Amino acid sequence: MDHLIELTDIYKIYHMGDTDVHALDGVTIHIDKGEFVAIVGQSGSGKSTCMNIIGCLDVPTSGTYLLGGVDVSTMEDDQQAEIRNKMLGFIFQQYNLIPKLSVLENVELPLLYSGADSATRRQAAMKALERVGLADKCKNLPNQLSGGQQQRVSIARALAGSPSVILADEPTGALDSRTGREVLSFLQELNREGDTIVLITHDNSIAVKAQRIIRLSDGKVIYDGPADDPRAVVQPHEPGEEAPA
Ligand SMILES: Nc1ncnc2c1ncn2[C@@H]1O[C@H](COP(=O)(O)OP(=O)(O)O)[C@@H](O)[C@H]1O
Ligand SMILES: [Mg+2]
Repeated sequence: MDHLIELTDIYKIYHMGDTDVHALDGVTIHIDKGEFVAIVGQSGSGKSTCMNIIGCLDVPTSGTYLLGGVDVSTMEDDQQAEIRNKMLGFIFQQYNLIPKLSVLENVELPLLYSGADSATRRQAAMKALERVGLADKCKNLPNQLSGGQQQRVSIARALAGSPSVILADEPTGALDSRTGREVLSFLQELNREGDTIVLITHDNSIAVKAQRIIRLSDGKVIYDGPADDPRAVVQPHEPGEEAPA
């Protein structure tokens, strides 16, 4: 069977003056439906570049990316936007909620771009808010909620379009450790209910909550396996190594 996410020999090369930066240097990653995978690595190891490619926010310099069996590695911007809308839900460190819109309107927003009618949008958004336990806050403005609640609203927004993959980039980065743990156990719960989750983090204590860890170093996969293996742990920076960017 096809994998849900299939990156094969992905390179992303940035030209900086005379030098080439290999942000991704021959990455092959397969992720199946229902998995909870954490992509880890030190700062500069290529995590965000990898997330941008998986999230159809950027295209690789070379290599192929199949998402749900469809080659998305050479798509134009508008085709990418359509795929993002249909298949991907994003959770960011800084929630990215729109302050002037109510909680419900924020959650409805991605559905607006998908062309669903207003009753359908409202229903899907309310269902997503119920899933994150915030249906009673639907009329509030984001700044009337705590940081943890705002992150749950952003999770509801990611869920509202019933995406095939939820992509979370350092979702606990702006939260205190207790609230961060709550958000994490919430993601685990979604995964138990069948959602596929790809989590990007530099934090080992967060990554171990996933089932599987993919560890990047200098744009290469240096570990891919169970989260409880010692090799999954990001090593502190060794003196004498090239400094991470
Ligand atoms: N737009 C860009 N232009 C030039 N270099 C970049 C760009 N984006 C990332 N890089 C470089 O690519 C490497 C990987 O970056 P990134 O994917 O952001 O790593 P991480 O998210 O793990 O910190 C770094 O060396 C970074 O400086
Ligand atoms: Mg990053």
